[in-house]
Amino acid sequence: MSQNQWPPVVNTNRLNAPQLDVPPRILLGPGPSNAHPRVLQALGMRQVGHLDPAFINLMNETQTLLRYAWQTDNQLTVPVSGTGSAAMEASLANTIEPGDVVVTGVNGYFGERLCDMAGRYGADVRRLEKAWGEVFSPDELRAALAEHRPAVLALVHAETSTGARQPLEGVAELCREAGTLLLIDSVTSLGGVPLFLDAWGVDVAYSGSQKCLSCPPGISPLTLGPRAVNKLNRRETKVPNWYLDMSMVGKYWGSERTYHHTAPINMNYAFREALRLVAEEGLEARWRRHQENAELLWAGLAELGIGCHVPREYRLPSLTTAVIPAGIDGKAVAVFLRENYNIEIAAGLGQLGGKVWRIGLMGFNSRRENVTLLLAALKEALARQ
Ligand SMILES: Cc1ncc(COP(=O)(O)O)c(C=O)c1O
Repeated sequence: MSQNQWPPVVNTNRLNAPQLDVPPRILLGPGPSNAHPRVLQALGMRQVGHLDPAFINLMNETQTLLRYAWQTDNQLTVPVSGTGSAAMEASLANTIEPGDVVVTGVNGYFGERLCDMAGRYGADVRRLEKAWGEVFSPDELRAALAEHRPAVLALVHAETSTGARQPLEGVAELCREAGTLLLIDSVTSLGGVPLFLDAWGVDVAYSGSQKCLSCPPGISPLTLGPRAVNKLNRRETKVPNWYLDMSMVGKYWGSERTYHHTAPINMNYAFREALRLVAEEGLEARWRRHQENAELLWAGLAELGIGCHVPREYRLPSLTTAVIPAGIDGKAVAVFLRENYNIEIAAGLGQLGGKVWRIGLMGFNSRRENVTLLLAALKEALARQ
């Protein structure tokens, strides 16, 4: 077909989008948090090809940095192309075979999502339920493992919907006795909350880039330990998700460097820089910073007459569920903060809908000046009501 035979190009009159401009929000909700300026700078660098020696070198560095952030020696430790849900799905798709019993801790929104996903991969899902904001005790987990003898126990380490931290120490020993893989969601903990994958015996973990790692959303870490890799290698059926099949993706990230899909080059630059920032600061210092700023927030909230939904012992430093005082319109407060201070906080989900605000202090955003500004803005918002 020559040019003068083309049909007329339609809809040109609708192409009136102005140049992109976005408000300078301070993202103090459940995520994304603001990316660190150095991460945004890395994101904008020129591209190389996804098999370029320079990129392969960067991949190796990223894996080493990610192993540090997670405190693991797992060989199969990779950034998945996609948001946290992609790594979540990869963790299940690769470890579950149809009919496998999977016990899932459901004490918040993301436990629910794990059940939904695991069911789609043919798991026989057994729900272990608790009220939103509570955590599972070792005795409860031991009893569930004894009753169900599952192939996988899936727990959310940091429930972004409730602000609760699930203690993991000792859980792996219980799993070993039952022949169970321990799989954890560390989306809101990696880089902000103490986490020792190998010392705690975690077999499978995933996370996201946009929370305590201060990178934009779009790339998400996944790691499989030796017992999980063993299960993957012995599968009788193919991983039922081509894009997330770690037996293939792992070859691109391993020594073979076989093309699987085009890595999102610039997201990998950004992610590497985010991990470099974690290593530069040091995990202990970073965890301490998150804890100190969270404590400052909790003390300031108490002065305003605002309590926290989760008992202190299990409270996440990265995400606080602040109880909306009686008679206060929580939604109006959030709108006030956004419109007057460019601060984003979020409403409660599910069982906590209308009851709490979710306040995140994650990664680059976990800073004293953010806490002080938020508390001053909150005080003003409450006074207006
Ligand atoms: C605990 C938890 N798991 C999984 C996810 C899913 O990640 P994403 O929204 O990046 O797909 C989130 C996102 O907020 C999360 O907080």
